[in-house]
Amino acid sequence: MKLIIVANPEAGAVRAAEIVIQQIKAKPASVLGLPTGGTPVGLYAQLAKAVKTKQVDLSHVKTFNLDEYYGLPKEDAQSYYTFMNVNLYAPCGLRPDQTHIPSGTAPDAEAEVCAYDAAISKAGGLDLQVLGIGGNGHIGFNEPGTDPKSRTHVVTLTQNTREANARFFTSIGEVPTHAMTMGIQTILDAKAILMLVFGSNKADILFDALKGPVSIENPASFLQNHPDVIVIADQAAGARL
Ligand code: F6R
Repeated sequence: MKLIIVANPEAGAVRAAEIVIQQIKAKPASVLGLPTGGTPVGLYAQLAKAVKTKQVDLSHVKTFNLDEYYGLPKEDAQSYYTFMNVNLYAPCGLRPDQTHIPSGTAPDAEAEVCAYDAAISKAGGLDLQVLGIGGNGHIGFNEPGTDPKSRTHVVTLTQNTREANARFFTSIGEVPTHAMTMGIQTILDAKAILMLVFGSNKADILFDALKGPVSIENPASFLQNHPDVIVIADQAAGARL
């Protein structure tokens, strides 16, 4: 595992974009796994800038998002589809056939999650999975206690996670109770992983994930078992490392 400490989230976004761009230059048809949340917003802005200035061509890339709320239509302002469309797809000109997110309104959720894993395999597997980390160590929506062998599945969100995500909704009552997420094994099957961690509120969980035991109590700790992981942390998040 390689740890890169940067001064602040802005510097982290620049460094992360360099790594993603390097991946795409090495393999223009790269398959990228992508997160939503506050953490990757700067990275997506850097990628949009690189597309506009023709530093990178994303027209052959395929993307698979980690997760989507279950029950929200893609047009909902809080859906992860909308988040991705606003922050990455539209600014980078990605076509609908390039991007994938589980459908939160699929009538048969089990069929949807199975089809999602099958689509990732059909695309050749994830070349680079970008991750954030939850305050409880979750990656994707794999909460503590999730089976490390899990593949894309439907999850019940913990109260912690619903509270953390309530900032994007008008009230906690509106935060969905369920989501669809790539499993821990789906994530670990990626050829390379880039995790971004910013802010002092992530310092303890990041320390536990990287230096603590590999345990289902901290899903991000399973990254210790992966052969190609880069972690970019700002000084606040990396304070204990
Ligand atoms: C989002 C996701 C989550 C977030 C995590 C951190 O698609 O999979 O695991 O990466 O909750 O969220 P932020 O970046 O908002 O702190």
